[in-house]
Amino acid sequence: MKIKKIGIIMNGVTGRMGTNQHLLRSIAAIIAQDGLRVRPDEVVLPDPILVGRNAAKLKSLCLQSGVEKWSTDLDACLADADYHIYFDAQITGLRADSVQKAIQAGKHIYCEKPTATDTPAALDLYHRCQEAGLKNGVVQDKLWLPGLIKIKRLIENAFFGDILSVRIEFGYWVFEGHSIAAQRPSWNYRKEDQGGIILDMMPHWRYILDDLFGNIKGVSCLAATHIPERIDEKGNPYACTAEDAVYATFELEKGIIAHINSSWTTRVRRDDLVTIQVDGTKGSAVAGLRECYVQHYGHTPKPIWNPDIVQPINYLDDWIRIPQQEEYANAFRAEWELFLRHVALGEPFSWNLLEGAKGVQLAELALQSWQEKRWIEIPSLEEAL
Ligand SMILES: NC(=O)c1ccc[n+]([C@@H]2O[C@H](COP(=O)([O-])OP(=O)(O)OC[C@H]3O[C@@H](n4cnc5c(N)ncnc54)[C@H](O)[C@@H]3O)[C@@H](O)[C@H]2O)c1
Repeated sequence: MKIKKIGIIMNGVTGRMGTNQHLLRSIAAIIAQDGLRVRPDEVVLPDPILVGRNAAKLKSLCLQSGVEKWSTDLDACLADADYHIYFDAQITGLRADSVQKAIQAGKHIYCEKPTATDTPAALDLYHRCQEAGLKNGVVQDKLWLPGLIKIKRLIENAFFGDILSVRIEFGYWVFEGHSIAAQRPSWNYRKEDQGGIILDMMPHWRYILDDLFGNIKGVSCLAATHIPERIDEKGNPYACTAEDAVYATFELEKGIIAHINSSWTTRVRRDDLVTIQVDGTKGSAVAGLRECYVQHYGHTPKPIWNPDIVQPINYLDDWIRIPQQEEYANAFRAEWELFLRHVALGEPFSWNLLEGAKGVQLAELALQSWQEKRWIEIPSLEEAL
């Protein structure tokens, strides 16, 4: 068996995303299965080093994950030719500078979204990688969620007829911390730390809408900071300076209209933390993270508006759950495997830093739309290249 070792510098792995999704469920899980079998006689074996600021946390993460190497010296790791990929899941505000250093050191880049905090900086990272001939990718994990894969299959099979609209409800209550502890890091609620739900969620909506339904042409966006004060990790109150809910409308190619509510200040009475409803001339679908329900034209009830009688139709009855038709890996792991194949075998990988920059661009223009209270067209980044 030919074993191809790929050295990966993993920075920011002590965080929520870094630990759970990228290290434990992706890289450590691949190593635990003796690597990624890419050909009958060839395996790609990730060889990670965990990088961060806190030696004690890194050591304990090594114990937890089975990874042996850790370091608090990013520069030394970048100078080591045994490492081929730089991965970044640090807080958003630190990403662009660290990625830029890694590009200078000649590493292939894979990183969390948003790739930067403004579009020129995000595009600059893409250009630098292209010029240096480095492979690059951005985390767009939601594309590999079972619920979204099911919608994709429906589209591939022309289930919807013409797609008219897409409505997404995302969100849940993030506790403020006064009595019940918060379940998200406090930097998310401070503008000065590059927090805010617009910069956090617009990159996701960009690739989901672009990939499944068609490129976004314009946006109108209204946001709010509904909760003005929260309690931080040390138990101290702080002022929330970033928005915690955003209500946005998008126009896509072919006239499809999308509306997306994203909120950390809402309570869930729907199938899942995110629900995506797609309405088409021939059928509709509602997907959550894993499940997807469909209603075909022939199953569509005919409601009559009459509040004076008890509702005679149970509207949930006429939906059919899509059965499991294929295997679904953890969504983060699925993308990691494709990126590793891209680096090791040169296989195509389309979720690159240009796509990452489009996510940053949408966040920036959504913020502008909110500030200026107006509709904003989205210029094509490809044309600007
Ligand atoms: N793909 C997704 O679904 C998804 C979901 C949530 C967050 N994210 C992204 O992942 C990144 C990390 O988010 P998270 O929720 O894991 O955050 P987190 O606060 O849990 O982790 C942040 C990481 O950055 C490190 N860090 C380095 N310098 C720091 C500093 N000065 N202050 C604070 N932390 C510092 C921390 O040690 C930690 O490892 C963000 O850019 C976020 O947008 C992606």
